Amino acid sequence: MRLQSDILVLGSGIAGLTFAIKAARKHKDRSILVLTKTVEGESNTRYAQGGVAAVWDLEKDNFDKHIADTLDAGDGLCKTDIVKIVVEEGPERVREIIEWGARFDKEKNSTEYDLAREGGHSEHRILHYKDLTGWEIQRTLMEEAAKYPNIKVLEHYYALDLITQHHLGRMIIRVTPDIECYGCYALNKENGEIDTLLSRVTILCTGGGGQVYKSTTNPVIATGDGVAMTYRAKGRVENMEFMQFHPTSLYNPAGENPSFLVSEAVRGHGGILKTAEGEEFMQHYDPRLSLAPRDIVARAIDSEMKKRGTDCMYLDCRHLDKDDFVAHFPTIYEKCLSIGIDPMVNMIPVVPACHYMCGGIKVDDHGRSSIHRLYAAGECSSTGLHGANRLASNSLLEALVFADRIAHDIDEKLEGWSFQDGIPDWNAEGTTDPKEMVLITQGMKELREIMSYYVGIVRSNVRCQRALDRLYLLYKETEELYRTTAVSPQLMELRNLITVAYLITRSASHRRESRGLHFTTDYPDQLPFIEHSVL
Ligand code: FAD
Ligand code: SIN
Repeated sequence: MRLQSDILVLGSGIAGLTFAIKAARKHKDRSILVLTKTVEGESNTRYAQGGVAAVWDLEKDNFDKHIADTLDAGDGLCKTDIVKIVVEEGPERVREIIEWGARFDKEKNSTEYDLAREGGHSEHRILHYKDLTGWEIQRTLMEEAAKYPNIKVLEHYYALDLITQHHLGRMIIRVTPDIECYGCYALNKENGEIDTLLSRVTILCTGGGGQVYKSTTNPVIATGDGVAMTYRAKGRVENMEFMQFHPTSLYNPAGENPSFLVSEAVRGHGGILKTAEGEEFMQHYDPRLSLAPRDIVARAIDSEMKKRGTDCMYLDCRHLDKDDFVAHFPTIYEKCLSIGIDPMVNMIPVVPACHYMCGGIKVDDHGRSSIHRLYAAGECSSTGLHGANRLASNSLLEALVFADRIAHDIDEKLEGWSFQDGIPDWNAEGTTDPKEMVLITQGMKELREIMSYYVGIVRSNVRCQRALDRLYLLYKETEELYRTTAVSPQLMELRNLITVAYLITRSASHRRESRGLHFTTDYPDQLPFIEHSVL
C-alpha cells in the first residue's frame, strides 16, 4: 500500500504526540500521520516517574539556577544556548499541557504545586503526579490528540527505513550535503505488508535505546530505531557514548525486563543510600551525598558493589512517614511489596540500570537533523541540552520544548515541500520466512552481554576493542539474515540495536578522557579539550 500524509510522525510518546497536536492546531488542512510500533500508549514516556523539571516557584527559584544545575550535570559538554532555550521556554510548555488536562500533585490543602527535588537540582522544581507522571502525561496527550480530525494514529506499524534519494538510485555518503527525506517504509504488523509512506516532512520521535543493555529501565520498545534509521540514511549522530545509568533500579533476583525504577524522587524525599550493614557510603564520593548527579551516584554504587562483591546496594526509607511515602510513591511501594520488600521495614535493594540515551540524532536549535525534511525530537535526538550527563527530569521538558520549536519551524516551509515521485515499493525479492527465530533471540542475548560486560558504567580501551570485535561478528551474521529473510520487527530491532551498540562503542573508544557518564580506566581524568563525538 502507498500512503501520503503531509506530516509523518514516527512515535507516539511525549515528543511525537506533543508535536502532532501543535502541528494539527496550526495546520488544520494538513494530514498528520503518527506511527507507533505497538499501541499508542506504550512508550518510555508512559513509565516516567519523577516528573518534569521547570522553574515554578519564583520566590526561591530562577532560570539561572536551573541553567547552572543543567550545565553542572552536563560536565562541560552542554550547549549553553540550548540549555537557556529549554529552561526559559519550559515553564510555558508545561503550562500548556496543564491546560490540556495534565494533573500535577498539589501541596496538602493548597493550590500550590508540590515541587519535588531530585539529584543535581539545587531547588525543588519537579512537577509530578504521584510516581506516575509519565502515565498522566501520556494519557493527557492521547486525549488531546484524539480531538483533532487531521491526526491519524496507526498502531502496530513498524518504521523500517527512511526514504531518501538512495531509493531513487543516487549514491549517498555521509558527507553528501543535500540528502532529503521523503517518508519511510513501514511494516504493518497486522497484515505483514510493507507500506510506502510518503510525506512532505518527517519527524522522528522514536525514543531511546536502553534495550541494548541487559539491565534497563526502558520498556522493550526502546531499541534505538530512529537513531539506527538515521545513521543508515547517512545522517549525523552524536555523543552516543553518554548512556545514562540510573543509580536505583529495583534489584529483583528473579530478573525482569524492563527493570523496575525506584525514582530519584525517593532520595529527594529523604531516602538514603546504604550498604547491606546499614552504613552510608556516599560521603566517600560527593558532598551532595545521595542527591549527587546520577553519573556520580551510579558509579559510586557500582564501585561499592564491586569492592564488596555484592549484587546490590540499599535505599533506606524506613525513617520516613509511611502515609506520606505511600501517597507520593504508591507504585513503588506496591512493587516492593510484590517482591517481599516492605520499604517501611526493609531497606530497598537497588542496582544501576541503563536508563537514558543522552546522545542521538544531531539536531540544531529547531530540531532539524542533518538530512533535509527530517527533524528529530525527544530522546532519539541530541540537542546539546544534556551534554555528558542529563539532569534528572530534564528529558520530558526537552521533548515539550523541541516539539513546539519544530511545529513553528515547519510553518512556512511545508508549502514548498512536495511529495517525491518515483519512489519504488519495498523490495523483498530473494527473501524467505525466517526458519529459526532462535538466531535472532540468541543474537539479542549476545549483544546485551557484550555491551553490559565491556561498555557499561566503567570502560577501558581493551574492553571497547573486545566489544567492537564481537559486534562486528554479530553485525555480519545479522546482515546475512537480513539479506535472506523476510523482515520482522525482531530482526529489525536486533539490527538497529547492533548499530546503536556500535555507535556507543565507537564514540566511547574515541573519547580519550573520562567525562560525565563516560568513565574509562585508561584516562581517568578530564582533558581541558572538549569536543562532541559526531559520527
Ligand atoms: P518515547 O516516549 O519512548 O516514545 C517513543 C515512541 O516511538 C513510541 O511510541 C514507540 O512505539 C515509537 N517507535 C519507536 N520505534 C519505532 C518504529 N521503528 N516504528 C514506529 N514507532 C516507533 N524523564 C523525565 O524527564 N522525568 C522522569 O521522571 C523520567 N522518568 C523515567 C522513568 C523511566 C522508567 C524511564 C524509562 C524513563 C524516564 N524518563 C524520565 C525519560 C523519559 O521518560 C523519556 O526520555 C521520554 O519519555 C522519551 O520520550 P519520547 O517521546 O522521545 O520517546
Ligand atoms: C526518576 O524518577 O528517577 C527518573 C527521572 C528521570 O529520568 O529524569
